[in-house]
Amino acid sequence: PKKRLLSRDTEGLQLCLACRNMQRAQAARSALLASHPTARVALLQMDTSSVASVVAAAQEVKLRYNRLDYLYLNAGIMPNPQFDVRAFFKGLFSSRVVTMLETGEGILTQKDCVTADGLQEAFMTNLFGHFLLIRELEPILCHAGWTSQLIWTSSGNAHRLAFDTEDIQHRRGNQPYSSSKYASDLLSLVLNTRYNKQGLYSSVTCPGFVITGLTYGILPCFPAFIWTLLMPLLCLIRMLTNTFTLTPYNGAEALFWLFKQKPESLDPQAKYHSLTSWLSNNYTQPRKMDVDLETSEVLFEKLLQLETEVRRKMKGKQKESQLARHSSTAGSR
Ligand SMILES: NC(=O)c1ccc[n+]([C@@H]2O[C@H](COP(=O)([O-])OP(=O)(O)OC[C@H]3O[C@@H](n4cnc5c(N)ncnc54)[C@H](OP(=O)(O)O)[C@@H]3O)[C@@H](O)[C@H]2O)c1
Repeated sequence: PKKRLLSRDTEGLQLCLACRNMQRAQAARSALLASHPTARVALLQMDTSSVASVVAAAQEVKLRYNRLDYLYLNAGIMPNPQFDVRAFFKGLFSSRVVTMLETGEGILTQKDCVTADGLQEAFMTNLFGHFLLIRELEPILCHAGWTSQLIWTSSGNAHRLAFDTEDIQHRRGNQPYSSSKYASDLLSLVLNTRYNKQGLYSSVTCPGFVITGLTYGILPCFPAFIWTLLMPLLCLIRMLTNTFTLTPYNGAEALFWLFKQKPESLDPQAKYHSLTSWLSNNYTQPRKMDVDLETSEVLFEKLLQLETEVRRKMKGKQKESQLARHSSTAGSR
């Protein structure tokens, strides 16, 4: 949504792009400055799949800014996706065709892996990295007298059945993406109950079906030009479902729409969908999420426990490396 934010009359707007790959970040910054030469766009290195990287990035943010008005939690991966072609064609001729096209239900599974911190990668990248970031940034997100907004990019693929409070990292199943996105819906709900009094609000969005790096990964046998050739057909599917937003510009509609709303007026139980009509008009529509406060409280407590664990481990590692440095300097004396 960066480009769309800058296209508004937003005098005084300062953007900070937190990215894992600084070369791509620099390219994104240059592209923004080419169209908006006076824009204030800063960069920050952050990898949401690494505990140390998230904590270091948050420290840097706190040094640079004393207040954050919006935090877009958009980083996401779908690790090693497997597309079930048979289920897809079967679904095409069934009564659940629209649901399948809208949510990917029944046709998508993934093979997850474990990060250097010993956490499931999809869980860490899509959810827990963001959770740690929010916790670290609390002092500049929560301030008496003004509001701040967390804006999550969730997915229509977030399903309750893929999520288990006994396995929040989804170590055992084959839908880690769906599980992590459902967990972000739950987390947003509980963040509102815990933080609204301190001026911090959280909302969830779904960009719809967008042709991006993530989509290319689902069908790697489809070169990019095939997607371009298929565009007219994909646009026709909008007659069946307006979730085929297709371009990042359209997909960012809800992210941009939320920027303009008073956070107090938003529904914590709603997911805000970017939609594109068959006449190519973009709009945002709230739809009730399949979430309940009880489950979201359980998730929140488990995330807090995990946070304590990873912080303890991080401190242990820091101590070890300090000791190693100390003994190597003592040895060289
Ligand atoms: N495309 C869709 O149809 C669709 C549908 C529903 C939801 N979504 C959600 O939309 C969001 C954006 O995805 P996209 O479709 O735009 O896919 P994308 O092109 O693959 O973009 C994903 C973005 O997340 C960043 N990212 C991934 N892992 C990261 C990490 N460990 N640390 C920091 N950044 C990381 C990527 O950075 P790099 O540039 O370094 O790779 C990239 O900028 C995701 O949360 C995705 O789940 C997409």
